[in-house]
Amino acid sequence: MLSVAGLSKSFGPRTLFRDVTFRLTNGRRIALVGGNGVGKTTLLEIIVGTQEADTGDVSRQKDLRIGYLPQELLDVWESSVLDEVLKGANHVLELETEMRSLEAQMATTTGEAHDKVMEAYGITQSQFEQLGGYQLEPEARRILGGLGFTTADMDRPLAEMSGGWQMRASLARLLLQQPDILVLDEPTNHLDLQSKQVLLDSLKGYQGTIVFVSHDRYFVDELATRVIEVGAGKVESYPGNYEDFLVAKQRLGDSTHSTQRVEQQAQAADEQPLDKDARRQAHAERKEQQRREQKRERELSELEKRIEILEGELAKLEQQMAEPELYQDAERWRRVSNEHGAQKSQLDDAYQLWEGLQERA
Ligand SMILES: Nc1ncnc2c1ncn2[C@@H]1O[C@H](COP(=O)(O)OP(=O)(O)OP(=O)(O)O)[C@@H](O)[C@H]1O
Ligand SMILES: [Mg+2]
Repeated sequence: MLSVAGLSKSFGPRTLFRDVTFRLTNGRRIALVGGNGVGKTTLLEIIVGTQEADTGDVSRQKDLRIGYLPQELLDVWESSVLDEVLKGANHVLELETEMRSLEAQMATTTGEAHDKVMEAYGITQSQFEQLGGYQLEPEARRILGGLGFTTADMDRPLAEMSGGWQMRASLARLLLQQPDILVLDEPTNHLDLQSKQVLLDSLKGYQGTIVFVSHDRYFVDELATRVIEVGAGKVESYPGNYEDFLVAKQRLGDSTHSTQRVEQQAQAADEQPLDKDARRQAHAERKEQQRREQKRERELSELEKRIEILEGELAKLEQQMAEPELYQDAERWRRVSNEHGAQKSQLDDAYQLWEGLQERA
């Protein structure tokens, strides 16, 4: 859905990174980690498109919707939590305003003018409906509820709430837009432990791709399916969560991260003592994850076989379609061409499944 190739970026004499290449595909959750000032925010902004790289390309699938939560929120909040969230769907709300105005015109027009207004109303209403206009407010409330807002909070002015709540409301606004990719720059800043958990649960329920920066070991461990390390002029990608990243680094002879790990583990242990049951559960979850991974591998290889067969069949059909005689036999032409269409669409589905599985690692 989005890929970058050969990106590099410098400020003056300082090169942040060089020759960065990776792809974001459906459902991946990628953590960008690295020390302060190494260029994480810069890389995110290049992905989002608010900054240009010095070299390289960013290609975004057509109509890709990206929801970006910057490191510092600069919004000026003017209204209630709910209304601020609904602003995320402004284009839908504009249709509603249009409908109200047309309703008023209906009451004051007759004859041909009235018919015109009715027609315009029908068109606007069906657009509104198609864009989920009637579900918008319930959906906004559902998202806010998932992020810990009470019904009463939803009517409070957002400006008077804390930074953590403002961040959650901003996130709710992004989620309402149903982006394909969520790009989050240090979303756990200003969050206490409990809020962090609420955020985690909410993000785990989100089906799209997430790219996020976090210095929070626990958060990365819980959420990431891949870790990208930014630093020392390079960007390296590792499959798995933070723990897997540390293991990979140590295998490469880099143990600079291990003290950090111990410290943070100790801290995490302080915050959240794991009892026997929790450990057992964590173990069961890891097992479950492994099981899912094996299943994915199996599905992947079956799918590859299927793609090969479909490609073969399609090639045969194409050969037939290239024969001039076929055009003289309308009945046969119709049959072959229908079959070709059907096979092609099966193959496209298979490709798409394959991509999804391939990148869900
Ligand atoms: N417009 C700019 N002009 C010059 N230098 C810049 C500019 N933007 C960023 N930098 C520098 O580039 C480096 C990387 O900045 P960036 O904000 O991407 O880092 P970061 O990894 O997000 O850091 P942090 O963890 O503090 O958020 C920093 O040293 C910063 O001072
Ligand atoms: Mg930053």
